Amino acid sequence: MCGIREPNTLSNIDQVKTTHLHLDWTISFEKNLLSGHAILDLISLVDGVDKVVLDTSFLEVTKATFDGKDAKFTMGERQGTFGSPLTVTLPNAIEKAGTSFKLRLDYSTTEKCTAIQYLKPSQTEGKKHPYLFSQCEPIHARALAPCQDSPSIKLTYSADVTSPLQVVMSALHTGVKDSGNGQKTYSFEQRTTIPSYLIAIAAGNLVGREIGPRSTVWCEPEVIDSAAWEFTDTEKFIATGEELLTPYEWGRYDLLVLPPSFPYGGMENPCLTFVTPTLLAGDKSAVDVVAHEIAHSWMGNLVTTESWEHFWLNEGWTVFVERKITGRMHGEAERQFSSIIGWKALKESVELFGHDSPATRLNTDLTGIDPDDYFSSIPYEKGFNLLYHIEKVVGGPKIFEPYMKAHVEKFASKTVNTEQWKAYLYEFMEKTYGQEVVDKLNTIDFELWLRGTGMPPVDPQFDTTLADACYKLADKWDKAREDKDLKQFSPIDVSTFTATQKIVFLERMTDMDSLPHALLNKMDELYQLTTVRNADVRFRWQQLCLQASYERIYPEVVKFVTEQGRMKFVRPLYRLLYKAKNGSDLARDTYMKHRDFYHPIAGQLIEKDIGIKQ
Ligand code: BES
Ligand code: ZN
Repeated sequence: MCGIREPNTLSNIDQVKTTHLHLDWTISFEKNLLSGHAILDLISLVDGVDKVVLDTSFLEVTKATFDGKDAKFTMGERQGTFGSPLTVTLPNAIEKAGTSFKLRLDYSTTEKCTAIQYLKPSQTEGKKHPYLFSQCEPIHARALAPCQDSPSIKLTYSADVTSPLQVVMSALHTGVKDSGNGQKTYSFEQRTTIPSYLIAIAAGNLVGREIGPRSTVWCEPEVIDSAAWEFTDTEKFIATGEELLTPYEWGRYDLLVLPPSFPYGGMENPCLTFVTPTLLAGDKSAVDVVAHEIAHSWMGNLVTTESWEHFWLNEGWTVFVERKITGRMHGEAERQFSSIIGWKALKESVELFGHDSPATRLNTDLTGIDPDDYFSSIPYEKGFNLLYHIEKVVGGPKIFEPYMKAHVEKFASKTVNTEQWKAYLYEFMEKTYGQEVVDKLNTIDFELWLRGTGMPPVDPQFDTTLADACYKLADKWDKAREDKDLKQFSPIDVSTFTATQKIVFLERMTDMDSLPHALLNKMDELYQLTTVRNADVRFRWQQLCLQASYERIYPEVVKFVTEQGRMKFVRPLYRLLYKAKNGSDLARDTYMKHRDFYHPIAGQLIEKDIGIKQ
């Protein structure tokens, strides 16, 4: 009996558990679907199991086989984004708990699949070949295969995929053979147990280039040179993670640079991180996303949240380790600086949801709630701040870092919830440092941190050494609206600024009252912000302009939100354009015209953002 709380699965995880999943798929780029079968290795958890209920979403199941014999199955009514429960009735009940058995489901995906985006050749760099990629986190694995789609279930998987174009997956590549008709069958194995949301696939005109002893970067040939250059720090990040935590578990760490509609910055698919092409800034200024995804190799992938209600344990810990890694490489001031950016993102998310919103809790209640609707910076940054606060309270990195490593060792290949996390924090501190440190822990109001809404109860007071120059410049612009002295500004103001400093400067400006258009005009003329390539800087600049309804930026915003589909940028920009003077029709028209470009998950959320759908 597992007896855990899991509001986001329809499968009977309290009765059976999957240990291995084998996928056999044929890709059709004509019909935009996958067809084939899935074989689940299951084990009964209680006596007398007589059915297996699996999560599915828009799957067409044609046959169920139990230990070689046909089994009856019914597809239950769809329950919103949770999908339809597939109930397979076993011909005879399994007497004893702990019995292993196999279930095979023949099926295909359908055009409503939310886990995969299919791209026409015209939507790719090369324009010649189609492309597909998946995104399963949080609850879209059920749209890829019938499964127990809960992070509490950790399984190994293998796959044979037949395709006319190169296939890559979140697993080790074990072989390829010719299948005739210009098709090949690519084989994969993931030998470390993972939750279903880490199953991933992409296929297209892909080439790979080695960028480190255990890393290859994959992408369309048109971008391979810039990708290989941008990600040369990869091995250093992994090695620093190993220094902080435990040996890297997954054998390979490859990167896949996706087409521009990829809705996230990065996705930590094991053995093969997926990243947005907006990281290709040409100056390595966006590679902290890679450090983040690498940090997931331990936090999330090895130690996995038990359910989406404890998502903060995946992301908060990962941000914490990400900043440890980049901090070790570039110094503590750098860690403080990125934490300042995180704080600002946290404030924006809390304001967007409202200070009293249950979505602003670290440990959430997701009964009847689609985890995609709760996605925000809160689990990331409130989670980071809790860990950062604990580190400070117990006596700094010397005390905290050994705990961080022990946490990974304790929960490796397992799942963890908020209570278990806290219990082990206390256990470790007590047995390693004694009552003195436990007393310090007791000064923290965990209930408020974990279950309270709104901003964290403690102000972190990050060191502003690297931010001061940005704040000073922002103050000068703020004052200029009265004294109108524009001669004091020149391109030199920002000529030594890193991309991060430009971001912090612009973020500070967005916190102030909107600037008059003449000042925005001057700022752009001097600092050339409209033409900056770093996507985060571009985003913050466009945000600042939209807040002031500065109409000259509108065409640039339209360009930015239609040439890439990363939700971090497109959602706030659509919302702001929609709210800006003379912007609402433009926002809706732009979206409608480019609807096909967006990933299905992004499309759904943008539609809510600009009032097209409830
Ligand atoms: N695991 C997330 C992406 C994710 C979360 C996808 C929840 C679907 C549901 C990934 O590791 C991530 O956090 N990406 C961030 C980048 C990071 C540097 C904060 C992103 O996409 O912006
Ligand atoms: Zn993450």
